[in-house]
Amino acid sequence: MAKQEDDFKKVISHAKEYGYVFQSSEIYDGLSAVYDYAQNGAELKKNIREYWWRAMVQLNENIVGIDAAILMHPTTWKASGHVDAFTDPLIDNKDSKKRYRADVLVEEYAAKIETKIEKEVSKAAKRFGGAFDKKQFLATNQRVVDYQEKAASILKRLGRSLENEDLADVKKLIEELDIACPMSGSKNWTDVKQFNLMFGTKLGAAAESAIDLYLRPETAQGIFVNFLNVQKSGRMKIPFGIAQTGKAFRNEIVARQFIFRMREFEQMEMQFFIRPGTQNEWYEKWKENRMKWHFSLGMGEENYRFHDHDKLAHYADAATDIEFRFPFGFKELEGIHSRTDFDLGSHEKFSGKKLRYFDPELKDSYVPYVVETSIGLDRMFLAVFSNSLKEEELENGSTRTVLKLPAVLAPTKAAVFPLVKKDGLPELAHQIIDDLKWDFNVVYDEKDAVGRRYRRQDANGTPFCITVDHQTLEDQTVTIRHRDTMQQQRVAISGVKAIIAKEVDMKTWLMKMG
Ligand code: GAP
Repeated sequence: MAKQEDDFKKVISHAKEYGYVFQSSEIYDGLSAVYDYAQNGAELKKNIREYWWRAMVQLNENIVGIDAAILMHPTTWKASGHVDAFTDPLIDNKDSKKRYRADVLVEEYAAKIETKIEKEVSKAAKRFGGAFDKKQFLATNQRVVDYQEKAASILKRLGRSLENEDLADVKKLIEELDIACPMSGSKNWTDVKQFNLMFGTKLGAAAESAIDLYLRPETAQGIFVNFLNVQKSGRMKIPFGIAQTGKAFRNEIVARQFIFRMREFEQMEMQFFIRPGTQNEWYEKWKENRMKWHFSLGMGEENYRFHDHDKLAHYADAATDIEFRFPFGFKELEGIHSRTDFDLGSHEKFSGKKLRYFDPELKDSYVPYVVETSIGLDRMFLAVFSNSLKEEELENGSTRTVLKLPAVLAPTKAAVFPLVKKDGLPELAHQIIDDLKWDFNVVYDEKDAVGRRYRRQDANGTPFCITVDHQTLEDQTVTIRHRDTMQQQRVAISGVKAIIAKEVDMKTWLMKMG
């Protein structure tokens, strides 16, 4: 656990030191769970957004993208169920005065049991070597079987109590498991209460006539209320999808873990409108498609897993998370939800407007069903950033810090260095930049010895460094160094663009989705 915490602290400090993420309003001591993206962070975030948008909108003939407003008519949130049901169960510790999500306290307890199982598995794998059969071990080792049953029964009881709104039983469970406040160790808990996560605001200047609004807690509703507008203006035929990226706001009770859980964050969502009865088929297709998108970035297939929901949100008939191995363990990165006709049906009722589709094949009209894919852009940023940050031991015994970002997402694609600050080398380096800048983000760096400049760019995540030296003046060649392998090649200046393009071309990366 200490190593995990240490690794995570390194991620946070690296993000600040290299201009990726800053605490919001830091000069005023910051605002809890609100962050700003800095010069490199804004580029990485933009590239992730584009990688998602192209995969969704450009590569699918039947998906279009929109950009709906953050502020919406207040009835939207009555219809969507957020006013009544977008709550988390909270509990306070009376001694430390710290507030927690009651369900998260219990889930973390169960996760600790799962960690014990993983430890038993790795001990046994070492003991049995090549003959180890993990499946058989999980089914037959009595201690592990007991652990699995304990974790499952805790989560089942939690799921049942939450579904039945039995908050007294959630508190009883916390007491029975002897869960203590992680900050103080105290077990002096208040009752569990429901807490609505939406931020309220006002529309209008005069206090008496101002209308109460909410900042949207998800982007999805901007898509639902526009369903018919898009379908008619785009002459869309079911099945079709509407995609959108944009800010969402949640007054999270537990807002720790850096940009994993924020109060202001960005979502990338796609609602796929389908014929009722076909939801299972589309749910499976989108699960597969989204996992392929993740795998295409080459961050290790073993770092992803599906986690099906036991407790379904008020709108869903099936739901799964794509979980990623963050520095603090496997956690939700993306949700895939079969939302039935709940949202469109409810907006029909509340607005009094028909939100139906006439299906020319069936010669009938119906309220379409929806399968949604919903990923947090900030969470994806954290997944990419934390997975890429490595400390490497080099052959000469020294270490280097390198940010091995997928090259397609790297904020800066190349840095150009003159070997020395004289003899016309800086001018030549600038000429190379002037040529490359039309295709890529490139930077100039002349400070310090070349070795230190390499290290700086490694830590920054720049895939290529190009060095201009005296030989360049004679034969128009430069050295190009690759971040991950540290290999250097001597190449003609005229060939540099193609070398960079081959590694960073979005099409090539997206084609890995198959
Ligand atoms: N429209 C469905 C929806 O909003 P969700 O599971 O509540 O579903 C989807 O959110 C995704 O949004 C999550 O998988 C996560 O990546 C991201 N997300 C949710 N709350 C977040 C928060 N407070 N901070 C950062 N990302 C968040």
